[in-house]
Amino acid sequence: MARMPFKTFTLRERPDREDDFERLAEASWPRFLRQHDALGYGRYWPSLYTTWADWQLLLVDAMGPTIAATHAVPLHWKGTAEDLPSSIAEILSRATADHESGRAPNALCALAVMIEARFRGQGMSPAAVRAMVDLARTHGLTTLLAPVRPSDKSAYPLTPMERYAHWENDDGLPLDRWIRVHARMGAELLSVAPRTLLITGSVAEWEHWTDMRFPDSGSYVVPGALQPVVIDKTADEGRYEDPNVWMRHAV
Ligand SMILES: CC(C)(COP(=O)(O)OP(=O)(O)OC[C@H]1O[C@@H](n2cnc3c(N)ncnc32)[C@H](O)[C@@H]1OP(=O)(O)O)[C@@H](O)C(=O)NCCC(=O)NCCS
Repeated sequence: MARMPFKTFTLRERPDREDDFERLAEASWPRFLRQHDALGYGRYWPSLYTTWADWQLLLVDAMGPTIAATHAVPLHWKGTAEDLPSSIAEILSRATADHESGRAPNALCALAVMIEARFRGQGMSPAAVRAMVDLARTHGLTTLLAPVRPSDKSAYPLTPMERYAHWENDDGLPLDRWIRVHARMGAELLSVAPRTLLITGSVAEWEHWTDMRFPDSGSYVVPGALQPVVIDKTADEGRYEDPNVWMRHAV
């Protein structure tokens, strides 16, 4: 696998690169996903840049540009499926509650991996996951938990995630390229997280976010969405739940 030389830094070490996280996010997620999450992760997100700066990573090319950025927070996880956070908001609220109560974390919980567009397709994504595993190890944590957003699921929005997550290619590896990266690194698929984000908005807002028209109530296949967006013209509301799959890396 072609790998370019890079160094890994925490945001604490490279505060001058803070804007790269936002820039990569802009280029990584469909516009509708970058709107207000009704489950409330937005309340906690700014703390990633302050309280949690030691856990946000940047992979920096030897020549200077940022190759990738990762978001994660440490939390205490009992090791059971029932104790997995149900949403991005809950990951952040759990980490915050543990931090404030002085409860020692035992797991690093990933929030996002973003590869700079021009560095994609060059085998850098395992390096970004590896950087999070190494960070967890440095801090004495025993697990990296990842709510994985399967990259290729948007091509199969009508398939339930429970089935999609188990689709395999001819080699017997996960069909989805991003689930496959984690699986190849030894991660285990734990469960489906059906609603990690909940995006709601008026029909006009959804039309703006998607460059589509929604003339009727019903379910719509929308580019970048992992399952249909549900439009209710009477209530003037569009609603989308972003499903992920939980994967666990031993550290
Ligand atoms: C998902 C993401 C991190 C993957 O990184 P990447 O640089 O694109 O992928 P890599 O080059 O590391 O390759 C990973 C796998 O995807 C495959 N792949 C890469 N580009 C591909 C393409 N255009 N089409 C099909 N497969 C592709 C690779 O072959 C590899 O699989 P393999 O190891 O079985 O060969 C990156 O595309 C990204 O940042 N996307 C936007 C944000 C996102 O979705 N993040 C993940 C959710 S948190």
